[in-house]
Amino acid sequence: MSTRRKLVVGNWKMYGSRVANAELLGAILGARPFGADVAVCVPFPYLSETAVTLAGSDLRWGAQDVSAHEQGAYTGEVSAAMLHDFGCRYAIVGHSERRAYHAEGDQLVADKAKAALGRGVTPIVCVGETLAQREAGETEAVVKRQLSLVIHTLAHCASEMVVAYEPVWAIGTGRTATPEQAQAVHALLRAQLLAATPHAAVMKILYGGSVKPDNAAALFAQPDIDGGLIGGASLKAADFIAICRAAG
Ligand code: PGA
Repeated sequence: MSTRRKLVVGNWKMYGSRVANAELLGAILGARPFGADVAVCVPFPYLSETAVTLAGSDLRWGAQDVSAHEQGAYTGEVSAAMLHDFGCRYAIVGHSERRAYHAEGDQLVADKAKAALGRGVTPIVCVGETLAQREAGETEAVVKRQLSLVIHTLAHCASEMVVAYEPVWAIGTGRTATPEQAQAVHALLRAQLLAATPHAAVMKILYGGSVKPDNAAALFAQPDIDGGLIGGASLKAADFIAICRAAG
């Protein structure tokens, strides 16, 4: 087990309502303290209300995307400056759903990560292979390619990002990478980061993809898995709390 403090991040995706959010956040707040850092990444309209609800607590919050642009005529986009304006801590970038449904490529993902960091918002950069890529033996090449452009683009700031390994075939499918499969990729990513920055040993690499209360502890026990990015299970208070406890 590493000495890096674990981080558990809930990715609510496009779920929630004011009533449901209040209930969920209330339950998580009531379950503290956790022995790990805990954050929720909520849909844009709920950011400010989430900020108010969590103010004064140790629970962190973030967005699920951010624009690569500083400002301008980009209808529908939200800038890092706007997120920073009211204290946003994290922005997920390069989630596989955005790569797949919004055609986000590696350079755009890297530019979004850079825009976030430029405003003091920590990017949670997602990488991960599809099932076809895994079966073709391309996992290593795919995740390294996805991460290398981000490392190059962030340059001396690369150590300030959080990385999330999310095999696409495990997201929302109930099919989790085994702790050994996940650890093998995390070790590769750690080595890639180490080659770029001396701070890689303290950087967090999260695992995401069907993390549930019954598999979280085994995943989090791996030496290079520093917590989780949790989708479906982050919407159920009892499950998310159990996963946060498994990280502590
Ligand atoms: P899941 O999603 O936990 O529902 O598999 C993870 C994610 O997409 O971040």
